[in-house]
Amino acid sequence: MRRSVSLVVLVLTVWIAGSVAWAEESVTSAIAGEELFDNNCSACHSLDKGDSGIAPSLYGVIGRHVASLPNYGYSAAIKAYDMVWTEDNLKRYLLNPQAQFRCHNLTMGHTQECLGIRMPFRGFADPKEADAVIAYLKVVAGKN
Ligand code: HEC
Repeated sequence: MRRSVSLVVLVLTVWIAGSVAWAEESVTSAIAGEELFDNNCSACHSLDKGDSGIAPSLYGVIGRHVASLPNYGYSAAIKAYDMVWTEDNLKRYLLNPQAQFRCHNLTMGHTQECLGIRMPFRGFADPKEADAVIAYLKVVAGKN
């Protein structure tokens, strides 16, 4: 009995310590993401609702259909992309914005529009940077 109680305590301790570490990692990631967002995205994108300028607002971007803001004039290339932004496809997009859309549009047969994506961002070289920006977007811009 005594032994199984200490085993439960041990398991709980490891479990709690593990989730604290995980929470700390998410917070660290979101903080790193803020700096990455400021340096790489904020010149074009606002995080405020309805505030689209030269680029669409990223308020609530995760869970939003691609190219769906009514007050922004998207390129035909991005409008041809029929999907909802998830953490997964946003990550792929941020690693190589141009290639993802080009491939998709070629397979859809929209060869004329496919070179028209207007986001001149080369993509993050390190997938961890994309993860951090996504963690930040989830915190500041809501999930949907
Ligand atoms: C130099 C300006 C510029 C920079 C820098 C930039 N973007 Fe963009 N982004 C755009 C433009 C313009 C579009 C619209 C593309 C189109 O219409 O083809 C866009 C589109 C997007 C979309 C699709 C939005 C929607 O409504 O579907 C996402 C998501 C996005 N950008 C995220 C980012 C993130 C995250 C960063 C930083 C890592 C970034 N962008 C950096 C200009 C930029």
